[in-house]
Amino acid sequence: MSSGGIDTNFTLPSRYYTSKEIFQQELEQIFYSKWIYVACEADIPNPGDYVALKLGTKSFFLQRNEHGDVKGFYNVCRHRGHELVQGEKGSCRRLICPYHNWTYNLEGKLMVARGMNPDFPNEDFGLNPINVAVIGGLIYVCLSSPAPTDIEEVRSMLEPYLAPYELPKTKIACQKDIIEACNWKLVIENNRECLHCSSNHPELLVPLYSSGFGKGLDKDNIQPDERRFQEKLQEKEREWENLGLPFELIEFPDGLWFRTVRLPLANQCISHTLKPEDACKKLLGNFSRPEGSGLSLWTHPNSWNHFLSDHIVTFAVFPLSVDKTLVRTKWLVAADAVEGVDYDLEKLTYVWSKTNAQDQSLAEGAYRGICSGGYMPGPLADEEYLVKQFLSWYNDQLTQTPVH
Ligand code: FES
Ligand SMILES: [Fe+2]
Repeated sequence: MSSGGIDTNFTLPSRYYTSKEIFQQELEQIFYSKWIYVACEADIPNPGDYVALKLGTKSFFLQRNEHGDVKGFYNVCRHRGHELVQGEKGSCRRLICPYHNWTYNLEGKLMVARGMNPDFPNEDFGLNPINVAVIGGLIYVCLSSPAPTDIEEVRSMLEPYLAPYELPKTKIACQKDIIEACNWKLVIENNRECLHCSSNHPELLVPLYSSGFGKGLDKDNIQPDERRFQEKLQEKEREWENLGLPFELIEFPDGLWFRTVRLPLANQCISHTLKPEDACKKLLGNFSRPEGSGLSLWTHPNSWNHFLSDHIVTFAVFPLSVDKTLVRTKWLVAADAVEGVDYDLEKLTYVWSKTNAQDQSLAEGAYRGICSGGYMPGPLADEEYLVKQFLSWYNDQLTQTPVH
């Protein structure tokens, strides 16, 4: 597949991973212009709760208003530009700038403009909003206006898949941040294939079949070693139909930026754990018993997520610089689950903590190789077709072919 400036049958030329100019272009044309997954509703459960975030050099915060809606604003005061909220998370009904105490309400409206004349037009100095979309409890932002309207198509297709998990009724049991010493695209490319799984992820492959993540779902081309997966898939599909759980693969339809599918878990597992046992006793949403499947969701450019009947794991990737990438993992459980009673944090987070560390080592090792001087773009296997798909999407986003 040749897509614009690059041949997506191969990995990218090294400058795509190392050039500061290309990195800047990616920020402008992807991370500041597209819908980006950044947080979930459980980050800000109550009115007034906020979470501060950064994409590239842009700082903003998400806050729940009095009506329960999620609003987003740039983190900057309209007086002399001091940042408004400090720290990563907090809660307040009025945002008071620490510099001269200009005060804003939860709609971003300026309420008190200290030092100004009584006839000062407060209404002209509200906070600078960003675009926010909540889909099934996952929060996406777009820092450009007007934002791409495709978000409504994504919402209508995704919401039925996410609804059974009732994500707004979850809480964050754990969040772990990793800063990986590599370009962000290596994190995503690594995530878009499971060819590396058998030699690198012993823990993950207890609950997971490697099929479904790059092979095994093309019904016209089933390999002999996928028979067990296929049998299980057919058996589970009948169950899912009876339970009313959506399961069909949706894969980047009409140029959209997501892939989702429900897949059976391996080895009789009912969660992402090392044994056929739950990770949390309180089940999510409308599940009345543990369900041996996982719903997976991948979005371009920066997320992947796994929904189990007892917990959810979500991953967001934030490029920090051309060679540094933040990978933020959150484990969500039912809001009324109690640590130490319903779940054990170590057991809940074990498989993905191990897997994340293994993936970090792979992405960083690839980055060192790409920077070593002897690198040439390498050919991608059929099983890596989702890497090709990502590269093709990536190339389509850049309006000019990047220069050296
Ligand atoms: S900069 Fe915010 S009140 Fe002055
Ligand atoms: Fe991996």
